[in-house]
Amino acid sequence: MKAAVFERFGEPAEVLQVRDVPEPHPGPGEVRVRMILSPVNPSDMMVVRGRYGVLPSLPSTPGFEGVGVVDEVGPGLLGRLVRGKRVLAINGAGGNWAEYAIIPARQARPIADDIPDEQAAAAFVNPTTVLALVRHVLKVRRGEWLLQSAAGSTLGRMVIKLGRHDGFKTLNVVRRREAIDELKALGGDAVISSSDGPIDEQVRRIAGPDGVRHAIDPVGGDTGAAMFRSLAPEGRLMLYGTLSGEPIPVDPRLVISGQRTIEGFWLGHWMRARSIPASLLVFREVASMIRKGVLASEIGRTYPLAELGEAVKEADAVGRHGKVLLRL
Ligand SMILES: NC(=O)c1ccc[n+]([C@@H]2O[C@H](COP(=O)([O-])OP(=O)(O)OC[C@H]3O[C@@H](n4cnc5c(N)ncnc54)[C@H](OP(=O)(O)O)[C@@H]3O)[C@@H](O)[C@H]2O)c1
Repeated sequence: MKAAVFERFGEPAEVLQVRDVPEPHPGPGEVRVRMILSPVNPSDMMVVRGRYGVLPSLPSTPGFEGVGVVDEVGPGLLGRLVRGKRVLAINGAGGNWAEYAIIPARQARPIADDIPDEQAAAAFVNPTTVLALVRHVLKVRRGEWLLQSAAGSTLGRMVIKLGRHDGFKTLNVVRRREAIDELKALGGDAVISSSDGPIDEQVRRIAGPDGVRHAIDPVGGDTGAAMFRSLAPEGRLMLYGTLSGEPIPVDPRLVISGQRTIEGFWLGHWMRARSIPASLLVFREVASMIRKGVLASEIGRTYPLAELGEAVKEADAVGRHGKVLLRL
């Protein structure tokens, strides 16, 4: 079969190759998924660059999520239940950028027929993170402000739409002024650019002198520091990405005197802490919000696996619109 393979960590456009590799077969408790589509997410790119929290042994194939059909099952009851079904393939070890992927049977989640392949392919990483972070961890209430950076990302746009749906207000930070009008049109209550002066000063002009109780940041570095300075006493900043690759310089006085906190969120860790019934409820909640369009991903270009190099370049482009997908 054809698979995207990298033998060393580095720039995805340089180190990724499409290769012929042996077709895999599932072992006990596993299923084989004939992959249809898989998105190019920042986490996949970070793994290839060797900058993710957990790294695979090499050579390796990226791809944490995607949609496909279960075409072979290993011994075990769960596999038999999903044989022949179209599933969301959650691949915690990576490996979905291939014609076939092996995953644990419990991570093959059947998808309802009314959810199209493009949405099913990206139904886990971003939509579940948004629900988990905003509704389950921060529990943002109606009328409250939620401050977010990188607000033009696929995930950030879902947060804006969830704000309209759930009744909380979003204060959105982007790095390019050109993105402001678009995010306002999407429903962002306030949109500011980090190029227009210190983020925390802009936030206090909008949300009031105390600042905000909730903030989420996938950027880090000076942006993350300014997000932290935007917090009201007892406010919480959730870090969930490392887009800048920079550490966050924090004034300890703000942590000590105001009881402000910085926490990390990682979807894999959060899901593992759920019981099976609780995670089924989360998947049901996600599917219903995808149907409503609230947690639907904006989809960009779809590339065949043979054009992998173009796909990863496009995924990295500044100001790109929509999630890049690989057709497998
Ligand atoms: N912790 C978790 O479990 C978890 C789960 C899901 C996602 N995430 C994280 O969520 C983030 C967004 O994911 P996504 O799929 O929505 O991303 P995406 O659609 O690829 O969008 C990336 C966005 O980040 C912006 N950006 C990139 N580098 C930046 C920088 N140095 N400073 C400021 N903005 C920057 C881009 O801005 P432009 O529009 O200006 O180009 C773009 O809007 C990623 O960091 C991802 O790793 C984490």
